[in-house]
Amino acid sequence: MTTQFSRPLVGVLNGPNLNLLGTRQPEIYGRATLADIERRCGEVGDEVGLAVECVQSNHEGALVDAIQEWRTRAAGFVVNAAAYTHTSIALRDALLATGLPLVEVHLSNVHARDEFRHRSYLADIASAVIAGCGPEGYEFALRHLAGRLARTTRA
Ligand code: DQA
Repeated sequence: MTTQFSRPLVGVLNGPNLNLLGTRQPEIYGRATLADIERRCGEVGDEVGLAVECVQSNHEGALVDAIQEWRTRAAGFVVNAAAYTHTSIALRDALLATGLPLVEVHLSNVHARDEFRHRSYLADIASAVIAGCGPEGYEFALRHLAGRLARTTRA
């Protein structure tokens, strides 16, 4: 039996304003709350054999701290950096410093929105980018990471 402690840990990181999901521009971001999404991430983690820890912050430095804290414990990341996706070299550097795989997730299809949302400081260092699938994007990201981690630990 797989115990919680033997499972690879994936850090699910959510950036600014995602704490408002459920009431924030529901026509763009839907009705699911962050708690709903994080609960679902835990369920999917159980299904695919990952331990999942979730952090949300509205503060860039706090997100960097969370990544650094995970650096020696985690096996990969699911990152919805929200607006910091389009601005933050600090988050990019923090993720690069871990040397761990990450999947970039956006609830909305950022490529069908404002031009400034088309640029990402994370996309070229991500093993996958998922945009426009709503909350399911997190699920797809975890499944992708589980497969990828299983392949790399077997190798
Ligand atoms: C977002 C897209 C970003 O452009 C925006 O700043 C967000 C949420 C998304 O999940 O669709 O806050 O990352």
